[in-house]
Amino acid sequence: MAGYITEDKRKVTTHRLLEMKQRQEKIAMLTAYDYTMAKIVDQAGIDVILVGDSASNVMAGNVTTLPITLDQMIYHGKSVVRGVERALVVVDMPFGTYQGNPTEGLTSAIRIMKETHADAVKLEGGEEILDSVKRILSAGIPIMGHLGLMPQSINKYGTYTVRAREQKEAEKLIRDAKLLEEAGCFAIVLEKIPATLARQVAEELTIPIIGIGAGGAVDGQVLVIQDMLGMSLGFSPKFLRRYADLNRVMTDAIGQYVTDVKSQDFPNEKEQY
Ligand code: KIV
Repeated sequence: MAGYITEDKRKVTTHRLLEMKQRQEKIAMLTAYDYTMAKIVDQAGIDVILVGDSASNVMAGNVTTLPITLDQMIYHGKSVVRGVERALVVVDMPFGTYQGNPTEGLTSAIRIMKETHADAVKLEGGEEILDSVKRILSAGIPIMGHLGLMPQSINKYGTYTVRAREQKEAEKLIRDAKLLEEAGCFAIVLEKIPATLARQVAEELTIPIIGIGAGGAVDGQVLVIQDMLGMSLGFSPKFLRRYADLNRVMTDAIGQYVTDVKSQDFPNEKEQY
């Protein structure tokens, strides 16, 4: 099956994402962490590729996103950028590289942009990290915000449950989203919040709002590639739609290979020199 057919082969830019929101074309975003996967995702017609710090979970097997380092994110970012022609590539700034002070945030963001050649960075948080956001933006580095469930703050929350159900937290989220837009962020990810709240944010802001577990009334959707391809089992939140059962496909293929090697069916006459 071919990828999504789009006439528009131009590189996706932050400006073109804004135009997509204005003409009500939904934005499709997925994560990728390596060259091979990024190339497939890009050629299938995705608009935005996120080199998420979820690499800490799905690539490195950590329980949280906190342990991944700036060097490791840069390695993943470089690998992805090499495989991409069309999609906008956003690299997550890992935990501890921008919360401390704005100068450190800027230094981290500059390293990501210089060494990976990505198009933008993503930061988790609102008012608390606004100084870092402004400092990074002042250097001409585009920022995607991230509000709602912020996995880098999991130790504060103590749970991955839906955020901003209570009015006070919902009001803060709306305030934070507006602060990020005013500062100059080009888009915001809203993770695991009530769909009505996400709709309100998408309606009140002019920049694109990308949801994950935030309902359909936002400007785009993002999922972790291993989850939507059915590679990672044991993670089944309500918002996750599985588009393939790659765990089964890969296990069957590898099982067949093991059988063929042991039975000496592989390699055959034609598969040798
Ligand atoms: O790291 C990540 O994959 C993310 C998405 C869940 C939005 O931040």
